[in-house]
Amino acid sequence: MVEQQLNEIIQKMTLNEKIGQLIQLATPFFKGASDKGEITGPMTGMGITDEISQNCGSVLGASGAREVMNIQKAHLEKNRFGIPLLMMADIVHGFKTIFPVPLAMGCSWDLDLAEKSAEIAAKEAAVSGVHVTFAPMVDIVRDPRWGRVMESTGEDPYLNSLFARAFVRGFQGTNLTDDQNRVAACVKHFAAYGAPEGGREYNTVNMSERQLRESYLPPYKAALDEGCEMVMTAFNTVDGIPATGNKKLMRDLLRDEWGFDGVMISDWGAVKELIPHGIAEDSSEAAVKALQAGVDIEMMTTCYVDNLKQLVENGTIEETLIDEAVLRILKLKQKLGLFENPYRGADEKREQEYILSEEHRKAAREAAAKSCVLLKNQSVLPLNRHQKIALIGPFAQNGDILGPWSWQGSYEEAVKMDEGIKMKIDPALLTVAKGCDIETGTENEMNMAINAASEADVIILALGESSAMSGEGGSRANICLPDIQLQLIAEVKKLKKPMAAVLFNGRPLDLHGVIDQADAVLEAWYPGTEGGAAIADLLFGDANPSGRLSMTFPYSVGQVPIYYNHFNTGRPKTSEEYVRYVTHYLDIPNEPLLPFGFGLSYTTFSYTDAMLSADTMNSEQPITLSVSITNTGNVAGEEVVQLYIRDVAGEIVRPVKELKAFKKIMLQPNETKEASFTITEEQLRYHHENLQFTSDAGTFIAFVGRNSQDVSALTFKLVN
Ligand code: GLC
Repeated sequence: MVEQQLNEIIQKMTLNEKIGQLIQLATPFFKGASDKGEITGPMTGMGITDEISQNCGSVLGASGAREVMNIQKAHLEKNRFGIPLLMMADIVHGFKTIFPVPLAMGCSWDLDLAEKSAEIAAKEAAVSGVHVTFAPMVDIVRDPRWGRVMESTGEDPYLNSLFARAFVRGFQGTNLTDDQNRVAACVKHFAAYGAPEGGREYNTVNMSERQLRESYLPPYKAALDEGCEMVMTAFNTVDGIPATGNKKLMRDLLRDEWGFDGVMISDWGAVKELIPHGIAEDSSEAAVKALQAGVDIEMMTTCYVDNLKQLVENGTIEETLIDEAVLRILKLKQKLGLFENPYRGADEKREQEYILSEEHRKAAREAAAKSCVLLKNQSVLPLNRHQKIALIGPFAQNGDILGPWSWQGSYEEAVKMDEGIKMKIDPALLTVAKGCDIETGTENEMNMAINAASEADVIILALGESSAMSGEGGSRANICLPDIQLQLIAEVKKLKKPMAAVLFNGRPLDLHGVIDQADAVLEAWYPGTEGGAAIADLLFGDANPSGRLSMTFPYSVGQVPIYYNHFNTGRPKTSEEYVRYVTHYLDIPNEPLLPFGFGLSYTTFSYTDAMLSADTMNSEQPITLSVSITNTGNVAGEEVVQLYIRDVAGEIVRPVKELKAFKKIMLQPNETKEASFTITEEQLRYHHENLQFTSDAGTFIAFVGRNSQDVSALTFKLVN
């Protein structure tokens, strides 16, 4: 059906029918829905009539081939023009086969892996009747107090942009109309939701347009450049105006400057929230501001259906604004082939074949192993298989390892830590005692764990945050492990036995009491359905850790927001000696506990012969940086060679370093490989005072190494 035909339908639709296309409701409002729909926000009395439901354009949180087909069938029987519903849901890091949370995937620095995970998620979701996923979430995150840092791939604009593209490629493929194993992607949350003051959920975001464009917008743009079909608005203000009613951000920048003509959906209730934000006195004014900002679909509030008809009739808004929104929505339905086949890829038989298949589980296991980060290892890991092991801690036998956005994922289907270890050793060698729950415990439980540990040769501590302590609404002011778990570590430590901690958490933690006590620490994040199996692969050396932190671990919460690509200030702290009048704290260091890009391996790597092909470059003549990396250990391992660049003096203050490229290379023992990077003038551009995105001639420093701190520096000039 071509655009003209869609317009012809629109012209025949009543105003109410057009407005109905602009609302999205959760499954409870639809005939044919079961009760397992996804409710991810407040649901107050909404006054949804049958007429509204019958005119509705899209459904939130429906899944399961049978349920979706029932809802769609019942809807089409009532909809005058047979306009099919769009089925949208949060498939963020897996549908039934749950992959590591995005922050973990970001630590893999493996874009093919990320694309594969999204492709599998799309395949399982599409066969279950989902058409659109509310992913990727690409918000830049610098404050681990915020619960949703787990949903982002991290703090770096370049790395997040690459992952945004990879996820969109995986979800959408290259032909959404014909490839019914794919779903449309919806990049979120536009914009800068990851920068709430105090790390407090839904709090104010305050930043200059320059910082927004320089650091926060690139990943959204990358997703759209990769063809992402939809954009979801953020709950927060951007420069004093809530994103959902922000014409400058949405119409002027997103639609006019970037040329995005796809569907824009509000986040849950964000249209009506313009009232408490204070830019709308009532739902009518909220509807005007959101529609004028270009929001096509209002999710789960009724400002549009309650007010737009009257607003058109009294001349407050042009009906053409509604028509253009409806056209964008119908074009997406057309692109997904829904007019030809409203049931698209939904298929109960194939659903059983695809969901949680061995192939998918294998991919999830590989992804989990590559997303874990080895933070410390003093000769404890990998474990040998003939020693007595005590597995202690609240995550020893806990299925809550899927993360807060695992919706259709099931704890029962997850491979737990004890199950993973039993795949590797004689179960008679393993003793399990949780010692405490995640935030509470009893003396008896603690004593049982100490007794179990006292009998073992080596102790594995399985510790962390419940998924409820993370994710949306999961901000924490204290980012340490719960006290009871720190007490458990201290008690087990008294036994003076080798002790390795495995962490299940959704944010960088303040690891005092953990990393100074344990002999080894493996950061597993929320590793997903195959978590226990992947961790066992790593603990016993069947896989070698290769993850590198995509988000800084602070020394303490007092440092946040903390990130590697910071400004130098006018009084940088340049030595360890005490100097009062430089940028510092009296009571903690400036440096983080663990820097961006950090991660250990079971082998070691040396960097030699770092050099530049020339010491000057221009826009026509790039230069090349090359460096040799040798595996100096006795097992094969992957190294992530990282290239950062600093612009020593710009028109605007420039970060002390910015990630510009990386290469993940596999090296056999004693093998040496050369990594080379081409440095181009485009990579040196930034937003100037007038917001023009250009470069300046002058001095630059290239840094190459194993993380954002451990690097070699090479100076070069850009000349005109
Ligand atoms: C939630 C989240 C958003 C999600 C939406 C639908 O409030 O902010 O990320 O996609 O509602 O579930």
